[in-house]
Amino acid sequence: MKSDKLFTQFQIRNFKLKNRIGVAPMTRMSAAADSIPRQDVLDFLIQRAKNGASIVYTEAIVTDYESGQGYPGQARMLTQPQIDAWKPVVKEIQKEGALAIMQMFHCGRMAWPEVNPANRIIAPSSITPAQDNPITESPYPMPETMSLFDVEHVIAGFVETAKGAVEAGFDGIEIHGAHGYLINQFLSSYSNKRTDSYGGSFENRYRFAHEVIQAVHKVIPDDRLLIFRISNWGVADMEVFLFDTKEEYQEIIRLLSEEPIDALSVSTYEYQQKALASDKNMAQLTREVTGLPVMICGGIYDRGSAEDALKDADIVLSGKSLLLNPNWVEDVREDKALNRYKSEEANIAYTPEPLL
Ligand SMILES: Cc1cc2nc3c(=O)[nH]c(=O)nc-3n(C[C@H](O)[C@H](O)[C@H](O)COP(=O)(O)O)c2cc1C
Repeated sequence: MKSDKLFTQFQIRNFKLKNRIGVAPMTRMSAAADSIPRQDVLDFLIQRAKNGASIVYTEAIVTDYESGQGYPGQARMLTQPQIDAWKPVVKEIQKEGALAIMQMFHCGRMAWPEVNPANRIIAPSSITPAQDNPITESPYPMPETMSLFDVEHVIAGFVETAKGAVEAGFDGIEIHGAHGYLINQFLSSYSNKRTDSYGGSFENRYRFAHEVIQAVHKVIPDDRLLIFRISNWGVADMEVFLFDTKEEYQEIIRLLSEEPIDALSVSTYEYQQKALASDKNMAQLTREVTGLPVMICGGIYDRGSAEDALKDADIVLSGKSLLLNPNWVEDVREDKALNRYKSEEANIAYTPEPLL
């Protein structure tokens, strides 16, 4: 199926995107103790901008030095050398006519104490995921229930990291509220059993996300974008739906739509799959209740799937295809027959060899 939408422009506030294709955030686990990604990992992002993507996301950046990190070799944007390392990358991405967006997260109960300098693991409630940590192949350790001090301290980490991204020149900042990490843990009754004002009703479970968004928004200049990523699935306990019902998901989207954010990024395994016991996919369920621009991701691998996904969204993000195929945007433009990569093939993300 060939249609024209994928390579048409799209306006988000003060930014005109040259097409509807973005590089999804992808963790690469390449940073040494300085929390700065390897040069070839930074160059990879510039390469994807050169190939024609109109948005380039960073890997998920860890928001603190205490308890946020979930994987070895993750990056931060909290110190001057970390910020300085990103400045030329951002400039090069922008020179190619693409937007550079920094994604940031805190892993919560999926953190790994050994890689966090303060050796702590914290979460809305003291509940571990049911599955083992795929990297350590051991159970996730029991998290401490976050105190109100912890809540404030973690929000401060998001704020400091956002300031780092602003200083590094990023066009936008994404708050990672998806994939079962900390913000998602607060949103979901599966992992949030609190009895204070951060747990119970969905309004209460939403409170932490609201406070993060509001605090981050205050430190972002008007000419930068603020985006929120959401999903109904988490990396640990993949089979579990994080929202109980379609109604609950849509209430959260309604609340998000009242926030000072510029777009919603909806992450799925498979963009067209019907979701939340409805006859609609996640993009459709999102669109039904928000006027915000919607990005969709999950299983988009060629021109046909990209154009199809754009029926219900404004922008498509690709992870595996852009990871494994350095010429993906051009191949899609030419409507070539393309491979649909498997999850195992994406493990190449962690190679010590430079990826083209
Ligand atoms: C190697 C790898 C690392 C990823 N790291 C992140 C990440 O840091 N943040 C995030 O939100 N999603 C992450 N994802 C998920 C992707 O952004 C995307 O949602 C997922 O790969 C589905 O899209 P795809 O079918 O086009 O690959 C990662 C995916 C891969 C393959």
